[in-house]
Amino acid sequence: MPTSNTTTVHLHTAFKIDEVDPRIFGGFLEHLGRAVYEGVYEPGSVHADDMGCRTDVLEALKRLRFTAMRYPGGNFVSGYHWQDAVGPKEKRPVNRDLAWQSLETNEFGPDEFVTLSERMDWTPMLAVNLGTGTPEEARNWLEYCNIESGSRWANLRIEHGYQKPHNVRLWCLGNEMDGPWQIGHVPAQQYAINAQQTARMMKMCDPNIELVVCGSCAPELPTYLEWDRQILEHCRDDIEYLSLHRYVGNPEGDTPDYLAVTNSIDRQIEATDAVCRAVHHTKKTRKRVHLSFDEWNVWYRARSGEHVDGRGKFAPPLLEEVYNLEDALVAAGFLNSFIRHADSVKIANLAQIVNVIAPILTKGDQMLIQSIFYPIEMYSKRRTGTALQLQVEGPGYVSKQYGEVKTIDASAILNGDELSVFLVNRDVSKPMDVTIKLGNATVTGLVNAEVVYGTDPQAANSYENPNAIVSRAHSDIQICSGSATIQLPPLSVYAGTLKIQR
Ligand code: AHR
Repeated sequence: MPTSNTTTVHLHTAFKIDEVDPRIFGGFLEHLGRAVYEGVYEPGSVHADDMGCRTDVLEALKRLRFTAMRYPGGNFVSGYHWQDAVGPKEKRPVNRDLAWQSLETNEFGPDEFVTLSERMDWTPMLAVNLGTGTPEEARNWLEYCNIESGSRWANLRIEHGYQKPHNVRLWCLGNEMDGPWQIGHVPAQQYAINAQQTARMMKMCDPNIELVVCGSCAPELPTYLEWDRQILEHCRDDIEYLSLHRYVGNPEGDTPDYLAVTNSIDRQIEATDAVCRAVHHTKKTRKRVHLSFDEWNVWYRARSGEHVDGRGKFAPPLLEEVYNLEDALVAAGFLNSFIRHADSVKIANLAQIVNVIAPILTKGDQMLIQSIFYPIEMYSKRRTGTALQLQVEGPGYVSKQYGEVKTIDASAILNGDELSVFLVNRDVSKPMDVTIKLGNATVTGLVNAEVVYGTDPQAANSYENPNAIVSRAHSDIQICSGSATIQLPPLSVYAGTLKIQR
């Protein structure tokens, strides 16, 4: 039997969940606060490149290897008209954005975003406006992006200097339409009809696209899951993915409880997937709808008052969360949950990528890497392969809000003869020896591993002390009789790749 500071993770290479879709390592860039302006785009910066983008920010973002990049919102998109943000910059109007009470100059628009995506190797994931926009406006944007030439909107793109179509495959049908705060929020039935009409017009224009319909954006809403059922019953044959969102936090300052939040993320995924499966079976749907977890992060400190009100300014500092060590562990917990649900979650987007609830902050020409950056980097470089089922045998505790959890939260990805394991030690004071045991294979060596850890859950990086929380190479591992035992410090996130032999 395991003692209090030992855990065994049991695996078998035949017990597979599914291929890990690289798009679960997606990001999200919204016209909000200083995400676009002073974030990725700042022509006046010493770091600006030929298109006005900040090379320091882009270099840091490259390390995170984002795949699907959602744009331009968020709440912002529900009042956005794409035509305002294309063509000659001097002719683009300055608009008042009602979602964040800010000024939008449209200096950076969808064409610039697609160009940036190509440079960054991102898969553009565009959200259309189903708040104040129409199905036709959405379909026109698709024509502008994807149709070769010979018709009004395609020709306009060419006129704007983009001869080749952008070929955007992934589109979101609005944003958080179940949220009462959303511009154009309507009851489920009304959104379902609008989303279906939009989907059908868009697919008539380009049948090769994939569509994400808005599911429930928060488990706290009274319509949670019932909204999803109604939407799916109506639109299931017209869309590929159902969205879900989640922001978490630790307002009570209770670290063990906060670190157990992954339980409820697992439950949210499983419950939403259960609705997809139920509709699939009861309505004899042709295809299975998968999940797009297209906003996730820690967000609770900068979530009200001045943090969400732009007061009519251009690029105001909004939602600028400062992330600490415990937030890094929770970010890793989200990723563990996505990997454990690789059969249902096919897309997930960290919200967001710079300045706004982000792993990177800028201040003038300076840039700061926040704690949550490191687990994302550590996981992302090991993301290729098949997620394996795992059984965690070891100590745990009963958390206040989320029930019983194991002290170690884990996930694993198998890629040929390499097994990557991802571990979070939730214990605030005790180290843990974690043994990785394969039923049908032996561990023969360590390829490489990194860890993020610290003693103070609230410790955070700052411009004065930028390296308080960083990742470090980890080699505290014993390989003995075909198993590996990894020594994990308290409050840590570990990602390691092991060589195995079958
Ligand atoms: O990511 C910040 C905001 O959170 C998004 O604009 C919205 O979709 C969500 O409520």
